[in-house]
Amino acid sequence: MTDFIRVASLSELPERQPVRADCNGTAIALVRIGDQVHAVSDTCTHAEASFCDGGHVEGDFIVCPLHFASFRLTDGEAGDPPADDPLQVFEVKVDGDDVLVRS
Ligand code: FES
Repeated sequence: MTDFIRVASLSELPERQPVRADCNGTAIALVRIGDQVHAVSDTCTHAEASFCDGGHVEGDFIVCPLHFASFRLTDGEAGDPPADDPLQVFEVKVDGDDVLVRS
């Protein structure tokens, strides 16, 4: 059975800037948009670059720093090429200042 684990403080997450966190050994990228937080795999499905090493957010999409593929934060669907495969998306809960992700 999976459970929610605390991965970050909401107040420490910059707006629209990917921040790496660890979720039970999996590197995830957290993106805060207002009071909402998205969590996706930090590993691009194209050639395994890290979004948190220079990636950015455009609208509802996270953009890879290496070849600029984009993925929708809400469901991980691939947007701009060259990536085809979707990103894994993690369920997030915000409880006060605690950001919790289902592991
Ligand atoms: S590694 Fe991300 S687009 Fe190529």
